[in-house]
Amino acid sequence: MAVHDIENEAPDDVEFTFGSGDASDGGGVAGPGIDYTGSDDAEAVLEWALTKYSPNIALATSFKDAVLIHMMLKIRPDVRVFALDTGRMNEETYQCAEDIQRRLKVDIEWVFPERELVEGLERGKGMYSFRESLENRKECCYVRKVEPLKRALTGLDAWITGVRRDQGVTRKTVRKIEIDAAHGGIVKINPLADWGQDRIWAYVKEHSLPYNKLFDQGYQSIGCAPCTRPVKTGEDPRSGRWWWESAEHKECGIHIPDFSI
Ligand code: ADX
Ligand code: SF4
Repeated sequence: MAVHDIENEAPDDVEFTFGSGDASDGGGVAGPGIDYTGSDDAEAVLEWALTKYSPNIALATSFKDAVLIHMMLKIRPDVRVFALDTGRMNEETYQCAEDIQRRLKVDIEWVFPERELVEGLERGKGMYSFRESLENRKECCYVRKVEPLKRALTGLDAWITGVRRDQGVTRKTVRKIEIDAAHGGIVKINPLADWGQDRIWAYVKEHSLPYNKLFDQGYQSIGCAPCTRPVKTGEDPRSGRWWWESAEHKECGIHIPDFSI
């Protein structure tokens, strides 16, 4: 499947939501406690955030594409970008990271899980414990993503993510600027909250940006290799993530305030 064939619409048959904003007005820009009065344009939000919080602000990227990095570099050249290397990612994801680093000349701050925690998990429960129970899956996500993220955010006043409202029931109400209670009350910026995948592809094509080639194989949401698979056209894009779990559990824990293992 080619990139231009992919559409990624929000499912409209879900009733319950998590998160702190109200997406129903289509203009949920800033949450409580944020002094932002600008427009909901992604680049305006980024400019405000980078001006206000640099150098204590960084983008968390999972290398689906280079849209946010490209936008940030247009605003200032000294942007900080970090990525959590879970140790279980696809080759295509690492290749996308390499392509972005070379093409956009941006340094990537890779963050690894704690060695002792990974060794303990793999020695104690094997390589696929996450398939056995929700608790085991959350434990693996905690070791490989949640704990490393906490370290990555240390010292930051704000972080930027690619979270979007169309990424499933757990994200229907995210705002573009929120207080992140799960991470010490720092500010969380989601500039693309109201974008759909079609708009992402339009931006990627317009600027000839690198993107993760897994999208050409039918993937519509990309995480770790053993927990992600392609989906058929028309299926919920998020259904390819942790496909053995129900929709309300499809979070690794880095974007929910009450994650516990
Ligand atoms: S996840 O929580 O389900 O894995 P998802 O894949 O939808 O998240 O990505 C949403 C956003 O979370 C990304 O745009 C990125 O900002 C952040 N993110 C997810 N995975 C990583 C990662 N491995 N490293 C850094 N940021 C990540
Ligand atoms: Fe582990 Fe899968 Fe979570 Fe990756 S997505 S950290 S492999 S459970």
